[in-house]
Amino acid sequence: LKICFVASEIAPLAKTGGLADVAGVLPKHLHALGHDVRVFMPLYSTMSNGAVHHAPTLDNAHRVPLALGPHRYWFSLLEARLPNSSVPLYLVHCPEVFDRPSLYTSGADEHLRFLVLQRAALEGCQRLQFAPDVLHCNDWHTALMPMLLKSVYSWDRLFAATRSVLSIHNIGYQGVFGAGTAYDIGGDVRHLLSPETLAGAGINWLREGVRHADRVTTVSPTYAQEICGPIGGHGLDGVLRARPDGVVGILNGVDYSEWNPATDRYLKHHFSPQDLSGKRATKRSLLDWLNLSVSDSAPMMGIVSRMTVQKGFDLLFDSLPHILSTRDMSLVALGSGEPRYENFFVGLQQRFPDRVVFHRGYHEELSHLIEAGSDMFLMPSQYEPCGLNQMYSLKYGTAPIVRRTGGLADSVQMWDPATRQGTGVVFNDFDVPAVTWAIHTALDFYKDQDGWRQLMLNGMAQDFSWDKQTGEYVRLYRELTGITS
Ligand code: ADP
Ligand code: GLC
Repeated sequence: LKICFVASEIAPLAKTGGLADVAGVLPKHLHALGHDVRVFMPLYSTMSNGAVHHAPTLDNAHRVPLALGPHRYWFSLLEARLPNSSVPLYLVHCPEVFDRPSLYTSGADEHLRFLVLQRAALEGCQRLQFAPDVLHCNDWHTALMPMLLKSVYSWDRLFAATRSVLSIHNIGYQGVFGAGTAYDIGGDVRHLLSPETLAGAGINWLREGVRHADRVTTVSPTYAQEICGPIGGHGLDGVLRARPDGVVGILNGVDYSEWNPATDRYLKHHFSPQDLSGKRATKRSLLDWLNLSVSDSAPMMGIVSRMTVQKGFDLLFDSLPHILSTRDMSLVALGSGEPRYENFFVGLQQRFPDRVVFHRGYHEELSHLIEAGSDMFLMPSQYEPCGLNQMYSLKYGTAPIVRRTGGLADSVQMWDPATRQGTGVVFNDFDVPAVTWAIHTALDFYKDQDGWRQLMLNGMAQDFSWDKQTGEYVRLYRELTGITS
């Protein structure tokens, strides 16, 4: 199959969250199965990988013009490879919109930035004379591409057989812009826009993606159900339910070449189900890194996360201080985001300086050390489309404590000491008593070290590899295109 894959962030080149992890690895697995995958993303000035900035320009052609309504841009495409692979990667070089201090902005030209990406990707296919069987776009930043195929590019035979797939990684972010921006999309799109837009409510890119894509997927089966309901749908449940083919939920995989305690390049001590001794040594390394002098037999709980309302930290304001006052445990939290969450963790560290460390910011190495060295990992998410950290935790023998939502519900099973089945602690309700119960329960389970060891081994035996999940996408592409060989 010929697949054009477009995303706003791709690890390790540019990452703010799990979308980058997925976009950095799924195309590699598709390529390994023999598919012809071409990946497109912006060339952000913040990308630290020097090689991409010096990649050659496609066709030696220099900057070509792009008109978005009254706005004129010049872009070129740099021809690179996804790191550590031979998958062709085309970087959209348009400094006027991508030379910014962060990947996303709240500026007035945000819609223009991602229109440049989407239009440049389709024009890149034209320049390459690459006729994709499947156009796979991700989240709101690329959600207008199915509509662009039906409008601006509808004349081009190159795309005559192209079928589009939109993957929703997070329905909480929809890309909503003023109705006046319709003119910036180019071509005549007014007849394609939804009634809400024409009534002046603004253009909701994700809604337009859901309306025009040939298939809509999301990143776990449970989230696929949740977004079709009024709470999970964030206003788009109606248009999702209106699709006769529904929403396909495909759980994300884990890149075990990056996330494996037996080979992890950030760890001094490795471990595996056959030899867990390195786990204890890694816990010591983590405590040393954090400058904590607690005993390594007391349970250590980790958090690595964007600090936004989605992640459920509001529940911790009234539970963690009390738990920390009454139980023997330590906590490390890594992340950044909204000040009220950061301030909460700062306050917690001040109150329990011997047992709590908050590391503000983004830190790749520390995130691996926390996954590997902690005993338990807390994700009390309000909603979680898939979540990757709980799957990383399982592989590292670090018991996840999660709320039963989205991909967390699909990847963690409640431990039952009687049957010795299960991989973590799962709570249902989004409230303080439930999360308090869950943390106490995990601490109680930890006291039975023999049971805990089995709980760790159960988690480490789980397999969320992309090899399995890629097959699901290929099945969907084949069903959609009718191409079976
Ligand atoms: P989301 O995409 O909603 O942020 P995911 O669990 O899917 O949630 O993915 C988050 C990814 O970002 C994981 O790979 C996680 O390790 C990483 N991550 C999040 N915050 C940090 C941080 N402060 N430092 C390092 N890695 C982080
Ligand atoms: C989103 C979601 C997260 C998911 C990731 C990758 O950012 O919040 O749950 O794992 O996308 O699909």
